[in-house]
Amino acid sequence: MSWRHLAVATEAVLRAGALQKERYGSGVEVEHKGEIDLVTEVDRACELAILETIRSRYPAHDIVTEETDLARTGSRFVWFVDPLDGTTNFAHSYPVFCASVGLAVDGKLVAGAVYDPTRDELFTGERGGGAYLNGRRLRVSSARKLIESLLITGFPYDLHQNLASRLRIFNHVMGRARAVRRDGSAALDLCYVAAGRADGFWEETLKPWDMNAARVLLEEAGGRATRFDGTPLGLGPDEILATNGAIHDELVALLREEIPAVLV
Ligand code: IPD
Ligand code: CA
Ligand code: CA
Repeated sequence: MSWRHLAVATEAVLRAGALQKERYGSGVEVEHKGEIDLVTEVDRACELAILETIRSRYPAHDIVTEETDLARTGSRFVWFVDPLDGTTNFAHSYPVFCASVGLAVDGKLVAGAVYDPTRDELFTGERGGGAYLNGRRLRVSSARKLIESLLITGFPYDLHQNLASRLRIFNHVMGRARAVRRDGSAALDLCYVAAGRADGFWEETLKPWDMNAARVLLEEAGGRATRFDGTPLGLGPDEILATNGAIHDELVALLREEIPAVLV
């Protein structure tokens, strides 16, 4: 049955992506959830479109979505919705953002769809059915060492309050990898690892809607996602280390190292 779920997830992200494309670069209204944590009228419009799509098919399923705290009923089916991942980019007309919708059944992630409207790239994945970009099968990269790897990272919105500690790992990894990028959309970051465009991604604090849809894709493309110490991820808020699999242990070991004070 899960192809139906993936079809609904896909329809939802395409609807949201169309709204994003229509409003992109047109000066949207921005509100502050925190000093640097923004929400726009487009985040809310996309959320409405996605919720409507899911609820019209599955009114009894639970939904965890970024902009609205919805009551849970204990359904076996839980959708994870990020209506606009990369809001800061969107608000600045920086073309890296997407819509992301994933589904877990009985506590296991089974389907995910992520749509980047500026590149017209639709990433989809289904447990046991593979991961695809616009219908083309995805496979993670073959990099075997950190020094041959392009990595991506991101920073949470409490960065100003915890700058030294947030930059500690960044500085440490930066000194060992070929390159590190910070693109501003965790869902796309994970899709890029699934697509072999990057070899790994880490971020210290993510929400379920940032990562749960793209995790299905990454794993179906042959990648691996864990906590920083290599232990399994649940479905809740957490740190994430996601790689092509081959560089995972090297990164886990690096993240475990005592980081010299000089890098702090
Ligand atoms: C953010 C983006 C960003 C990541 C932040 C997220 P939002 O999501 O994914 O890349 O670094 O941690 O909160 O707020 O744009 O949906
Ligand atoms: Ca997000
Ligand atoms: Ca968001």
